[in-house]
Amino acid sequence: MPDTPYEDVQIEGHLIDSLMMPHIMDQIMDLDGEFEMLTFEVGRMKDDPSRAVMRIFGRDAAHLDELLTAITEFGVVAVKPQDVVLEAADMDGVFPDAFYSTTNLETFVRVDAEWVRVRHPEMDCGIRVDEAGGTAETLAMSDVRAGDRFVTGHRGIRVLPLERPRESQPFEFMASAVSSEKPKAQIVREVARELRQVRQQGKLTIAVVGPAVVHTGAAPHLARLIEAGYIGAVFGGNAIATHDIESSLFGTSLGISLKEGTPVPGGHEHHLRAINTIRRCGSIEAAVDRGVLTSGLMYTLIKTGTPFVLAGSIRDDGPMPEVITDVMEAQRVMRQYAQQAGACLMLSTMLHSIAVGNMLPASVRTVCVDINPAVVTKLADRGSFQTVGIVTDVGLFVEQVADELEG
Ligand SMILES: NC(=O)c1ccc[n+]([C@@H]2O[C@H](COP(=O)([O-])OP(=O)(O)OC[C@H]3O[C@@H](n4cnc5c(N)ncnc54)[C@H](O)[C@@H]3O)[C@@H](O)[C@H]2O)c1
Repeated sequence: MPDTPYEDVQIEGHLIDSLMMPHIMDQIMDLDGEFEMLTFEVGRMKDDPSRAVMRIFGRDAAHLDELLTAITEFGVVAVKPQDVVLEAADMDGVFPDAFYSTTNLETFVRVDAEWVRVRHPEMDCGIRVDEAGGTAETLAMSDVRAGDRFVTGHRGIRVLPLERPRESQPFEFMASAVSSEKPKAQIVREVARELRQVRQQGKLTIAVVGPAVVHTGAAPHLARLIEAGYIGAVFGGNAIATHDIESSLFGTSLGISLKEGTPVPGGHEHHLRAINTIRRCGSIEAAVDRGVLTSGLMYTLIKTGTPFVLAGSIRDDGPMPEVITDVMEAQRVMRQYAQQAGACLMLSTMLHSIAVGNMLPASVRTVCVDINPAVVTKLADRGSFQTVGIVTDVGLFVEQVADELEG
């Protein structure tokens, strides 16, 4: 064996069928490291976990550190774990240089010989540990305050990887599928079942919506889902509110009549007139209170008290008064709901779906519906067992899910 620094690590779980072991070996070899398998006990029955102890060799201490950091996300932990190394931020908005960058997986950090669960798993954040060492939470870079203590390096970190479900579950049927050629009726049934389950558990299903929801006539069906309590929060941008309110005030979406499917004379101005009308009222809520806005998706959100977050973007006209134009502030508001999510329906918006995808813990069941397979693949790639991509028209999909749940 190489005469170089090494560390013994252990891993436990469904190492073979969840492909954890091949991933660990790949990582080590890709980074030019060496390993020796010290023990490998394969679980005998379907539900039995497998256990392995490996010795990881690096060229030098820094290389060993790089290897250990790379395999942390697969649930690998040192045989003799040490406490995390904490370092205080020396300025606002900046992590200490060696900060540990999070995954979206359930994570624990070892502080004073105790494993502490990290609250609100989210990728691409740091882990802040309070003064007493009793709580740990993810924190976005922009929220760092000088003096906060952050986890650095890889020591004392344990990540629980996602494993292949043991029992047949709705999402297993669709697992890792970007399904353009799967039976849609069955997918619709499985998604409906998932929404029912999340509602029963008292968690939120977040709908992330783009304007195609209005253009395709899906908005009234989404409103049915909101009224029935299946959707707990809606995220989107200026466009969804604008075109929904345009459809309510003028019967068009981007100037196209929703009844006839044909352009209406002067229709290209309708969305601007809709924004102007709402801005004159002061807010969408005020427009509902004053009887100016009497139908549609935004009307339903206000009437049912369902929270919504509209995040600004460079494309926006107006924007609608409720649009949060400071995008970091929009992230903060969205995060509060993302942390309560049990499921997420991403409906035809590349911009907002990817943004929300980055915010959700890996445990949140996510369905991404888009007509463009590239968008769906990008979203589905971020998790293998909890994300399903459906390549289809959003109008047909939402209507069928609402029908299934009503039925
Ligand atoms: N007037 C305005 O202010 C205005 C207008 C448009 C967009 N915007 C803003 O620009 C940003 C990006 O907008 P976006 O969400 O439209 O763009 P986007 O590129 O993020 O998403 C549009 C998505 O819809 C998909 N799509 C189109 N038709 C579909 C269908 N029938 N079924 C399923 N999927 C379909 C496309 O493939 C694409 O992925 C948002 O913040 C939005 O609010 C503002």
